[in-house]
Amino acid sequence: MASVTLKDLTKDFKEIIAVNKVNLEIRDKEFLVLVGPSGCGKTTALRMIAGLEEVTSGEILIEDRLVNDVSPKDRDIAMVFQNYALYPHMSVYDNMSFGLRLKRTPRKAPWPFNSQRTFSKKEISRRVNEAAKLLGLENLLQRKPKALSGGQRQRVALGRAIVREPKVFLMDEPLSNLDAKLRVQTRAELIKLHRRLGITTIYVTHDQTEAMTMGDRIAVLSTGVVQQCDTPLNLYNHPANIFVAGFIGSPAMNFIPVQLKQEDGKIWVNASSFRVALNSAQTEMAKPYLDKSCVFGVRPEDIYDCNLPGLVTPTDENTFNALVDVVEPLGNDVELYLNMDSIQLIAMIDSRTAAKMGEEMRLSIDMDKTHLFDKESERAIY
Ligand SMILES: Nc1ncnc2c1ncn2[C@@H]1O[C@H](COP(=O)(O)OP(=O)(O)OP(=O)(O)O)[C@@H](O)[C@H]1O
Ligand SMILES: [Mg+2]
Repeated sequence: MASVTLKDLTKDFKEIIAVNKVNLEIRDKEFLVLVGPSGCGKTTALRMIAGLEEVTSGEILIEDRLVNDVSPKDRDIAMVFQNYALYPHMSVYDNMSFGLRLKRTPRKAPWPFNSQRTFSKKEISRRVNEAAKLLGLENLLQRKPKALSGGQRQRVALGRAIVREPKVFLMDEPLSNLDAKLRVQTRAELIKLHRRLGITTIYVTHDQTEAMTMGDRIAVLSTGVVQQCDTPLNLYNHPANIFVAGFIGSPAMNFIPVQLKQEDGKIWVNASSFRVALNSAQTEMAKPYLDKSCVFGVRPEDIYDCNLPGLVTPTDENTFNALVDVVEPLGNDVELYLNMDSIQLIAMIDSRTAAKMGEEMRLSIDMDKTHLFDKESERAIY
């Protein structure tokens, strides 16, 4: 078991800084998810930790040991790649044990007598059978990959990493080749597997749902820079900036460019016909931004139909009118696309709503759940 520490980790590809001064401390046994849009540097960061990519500057420590110059095979790390490939001519057993069979220690004798198996046949068999049991592959060990489903192949690729019994798992979008249903299923299996093995894991994905459901903590990456690293709920409830607020949550948070005005001892958030008042705690934090431009954030699930009994009691301070542009029933909820002058909003409303396309309706906002950002720095004000 091991912790992984990244100190100012940087990768410069000349034309682009793929990873920019990343500082992260991944605790022993932790499942840390590295999430961000395509090209933000996730794979590059992982490849540096694995030793497959040279570090431009900064430090990588595994359990207090600086590993910048340690070769990949001596880092005690197993990586599951974005585009894993199984050997098509080998059985599942041979695919899983391949890495162990290959690992030999040199002796003072001419080739081919100069190497010795590090792992005995018995040890290899123990590890493969244990991993196969863990992954539900016991009955498939003699099959070739072409006779497996996508999900089973995926599990073989995982098995190949598990038999190494590494200190750290690195996983680069290991579920990206699976269809939606299988992905959800395998996701749950991976979480259970991690709970059982307790191996420190760094898991890369660009899918925020995957990040939210799997991670003990999530590090959100954008253009090579860590924007915020925290538990899923803290990221959702307290995003540090507009990027994180827009990335975590689905459908994404609505952002409205607003001006703050003081009236009757209250701070009002104004954008043309849209006008709501901050609660008292929010007012304190927003005071320095009076008469300035800010960005108001509200999640679709925190908007309510005033005609339905809900969590929010509609008042002058938390309601607004909007024109219904599109109604998308999703079963439990209805997704509404709303227009207010030039502002567009998405709301997730209880399916009992009578909202109709082209009609005006009155909506309320759970003000306690809203967010306000500095327009310049894009950092959260509250
Ligand atoms: N060998 C390389 N030479 C030059 N640029 C590279 C190299 N490898 C990656 N990059 C660039 O570095 C940036 C980060 O790439 P990386 O593969 O780490 O992104 P990613 O977050 O894994 O994206 P994805 O979600 O698409 O896999 C990209 O702009 C990419 O074009
Ligand atoms: Mg990648």
